[in-house]
Amino acid sequence: MKYLVTGATGHLGGLVVKHLLNRVPATDVIVSVRDPQRAQNLAAQGIEVRQGDFDTGVDFSGANALLLISADSGDRVTAHRKAIEAARTAGVSRIAYTSVTDADTSPVGLAADHKATEEAIRATGIPFTFLRNGMYHENYLPISPTTATGEGRIATASRDDLAEAAAIALTGEGHENKTYELTGPTAWSFAELNTLVGQTHHPIPADERKAALEGFGLPPEVAALLVDIEVNIAAGTFNKVHPDLETLLGRTPKTIEEAVKEL
Ligand SMILES: NC(=O)c1ccc[n+]([C@@H]2O[C@H](COP(=O)([O-])OP(=O)(O)OC[C@H]3O[C@@H](n4cnc5c(N)ncnc54)[C@H](OP(=O)(O)O)[C@@H]3O)[C@@H](O)[C@H]2O)c1
Repeated sequence: MKYLVTGATGHLGGLVVKHLLNRVPATDVIVSVRDPQRAQNLAAQGIEVRQGDFDTGVDFSGANALLLISADSGDRVTAHRKAIEAARTAGVSRIAYTSVTDADTSPVGLAADHKATEEAIRATGIPFTFLRNGMYHENYLPISPTTATGEGRIATASRDDLAEAAAIALTGEGHENKTYELTGPTAWSFAELNTLVGQTHHPIPADERKAALEGFGLPPEVAALLVDIEVNIAAGTFNKVHPDLETLLGRTPKTIEEAVKEL
């Protein structure tokens, strides 16, 4: 078996490779990265490093199981469709994809790209594994006392646990045509999170939050995306706790309290 991971120079992809190496020999792992110079540490461990960009071309030949890590910017649906076509051409036997919780029904704006990508993968007929990742604990650390999340709760998970689950799902059996909703073990509020570090949470309206984020130098579209997530947290979009991450890991996933303590 050959396991191919895209985005291995990214945060999640790097952690997935770390967990893959606990399960399979380095010679069974291939990574596809945009800049191989940044993957020299992986090559030094015996991993085959291929240059590839979803937009301009990727080579997935020889891979049995592919982990397609969603791109972080640009026209993601077009880019992902090109990568999926490359997977079909290469004859991969399974595509795992990092999606978002409730991708097919979620009202959060960023879910649309994931829903379209899941549909494109299903349309190939290739067995899939949808890893619908919840928001990372790390997105909320360090802790901001001012957000547009209201009294909403969110069931975040650590990036490392999500990466380990991806490695387990990629290398294990019985994950064909499965959709996993991957959340942490608790849904916490921003008041509770702030209390952990002796702060008080001050919920503010969405328009004020967007202006504040732009004031910090964020481009308007990035500020809008972050505020959309916060408004959805306030509305309860991310408050469901699912058992799938715990089941895949075979242990309780890291809690937000543990993540705060580590920081
Ligand atoms: N669940 C969450 O809270 C959360 C938060 C942020 C993002 N995400 C999603 O989950 C993904 C993985 O998270 P992360 O923390 O690892 O993000 P990240 O560190 O930004 O990694 C994104 C990876 O995607 C690669 N990439 C971007 N465009 C590409 C393209 N056109 N072709 C090939 N590769 C491309 C990047 O390559 P380079 O290394 O060359 O830049 C990078 O390795 C993100 O891309 C995003 O879709 C989830």
